[in-house]
Amino acid sequence: MNILITGGAGFIGSHTADQLIAKGHRVRILDLLDPQIHGKNADFPDYLHPDIEKIYGDVCQPEDVNKALEDIDAVYHFAALTGVGQSMYDIRNYVDVNVIGTATLLECIVKQNIKLKQFILASSRAVYGEGTHTCPEHGTIYPSLRLREDLDKGMFHQLCPHCRTILEPVATIEERPLDPLSVYAETKKHQEDYCRYAANTFGIPVTMLRYFNVYGSRQSLKNPYTGVVSIFYNRIIANQALSLYEQGMPGRDFVHIFDVAKANVLALENNNRSPAIFNVGSGCNDTIRDVASALAKACKKDVEMLDLGEFRQGDIFSCYADLTQAKHGLNFSPSTSLEQGMEEFVQWASDQESFDGYEKTVDELEKYGLFGRAGKS
Ligand SMILES: NC(=O)c1ccc[n+]([C@@H]2O[C@H](COP(=O)([O-])OP(=O)(O)OC[C@H]3O[C@@H](n4cnc5c(N)ncnc54)[C@H](O)[C@@H]3O)[C@@H](O)[C@H]2O)c1
Ligand SMILES: [Zn+2]
Repeated sequence: MNILITGGAGFIGSHTADQLIAKGHRVRILDLLDPQIHGKNADFPDYLHPDIEKIYGDVCQPEDVNKALEDIDAVYHFAALTGVGQSMYDIRNYVDVNVIGTATLLECIVKQNIKLKQFILASSRAVYGEGTHTCPEHGTIYPSLRLREDLDKGMFHQLCPHCRTILEPVATIEERPLDPLSVYAETKKHQEDYCRYAANTFGIPVTMLRYFNVYGSRQSLKNPYTGVVSIFYNRIIANQALSLYEQGMPGRDFVHIFDVAKANVLALENNNRSPAIFNVGSGCNDTIRDVASALAKACKKDVEMLDLGEFRQGDIFSCYADLTQAKHGLNFSPSTSLEQGMEEFVQWASDQESFDGYEKTVDELEKYGLFGRAGKS
């Protein structure tokens, strides 16, 4: 097939392109090389497969998109801004790129009456908000954001809204109610909604993949707003201690990029009823401390981990994927362990220039009142 990947110069798009080309497909990418990801006045990155056809352009501009769509059989829509915290104050940019970009792409497909074999959207676990939890007495709970007064006191767990018992995180399934808690999450929900309308109205075969926390080679080391693995790595390389928010207790589902690229290829070939939605994760609930330790081990460094009671307003406590539907509908199961994945990441990162932008992000969060320290206010 002739396949278009928007945002294909980025982390997930470039790995997906590699696997598609290995399967014999032809890949074109549309990317404007966002300076926050690729650096100022950057060229297309060297890691891109030589057989990729590269178009420099903006997914929000119909002329660029129409050119990119010529003779295309399937589309992966990855172009987006991805910093959850940053989205809370750079609101217009996030809405512009993520919402208007998706609207432009779908409109071009519909108006040109392009008969796609598959349209795959990169959605996010962020649409769920807080992960699913359970109370021994009240059963399944979909908690909302924790109260600032609890966080200020150092109570980081989710508490039952009925009895204030500490809740246990459980795996999150696709059908649960959505609760986007950030501008970024809201834009991802909008993307899903427009794709759903396009599928239902025009019969476009749509598959939406809700990625959990993706990590691995080629994730931007320059962007200090996203990707805790990159942020920690840059700190470790700068011989700085790691400040673990919320005592390192929060749980996340870290899925390695090779597994995500595999799911993306499987999505191209699926025959599920459109629109189809799948979680793509590891299915594991690793704590931030587990992740920091696995990374430090892969770096072969003794890393000081600080527990300063710090937290970020708006963060969730825990979310991990239930993969039952991905297994049945896509035949997807992850196969990279956290240890293997961290080794792959560190091996790649050690040849890259590193950028420790951590202090800058904390300064910005503090400026907007989004950064806290338990016991300090
Ligand atoms: N990385 C994760 O953990 C994760 C998790 C959930 C969802 N996602 C989603 O997956 C997709 C890909 O994420 P990624 O991690 O590869 O991010 P990335 O930042 O590495 O890649 C995104 C690419 O989009 C390009 N881009 C930005 N604005 C554009 C525009 N207006 N026109 C054309 N190109 C533009 C950027 O230059 C970049 O190359 C995104 O939609 C993201 O929301 C990622
Ligand atoms: Zn309860």
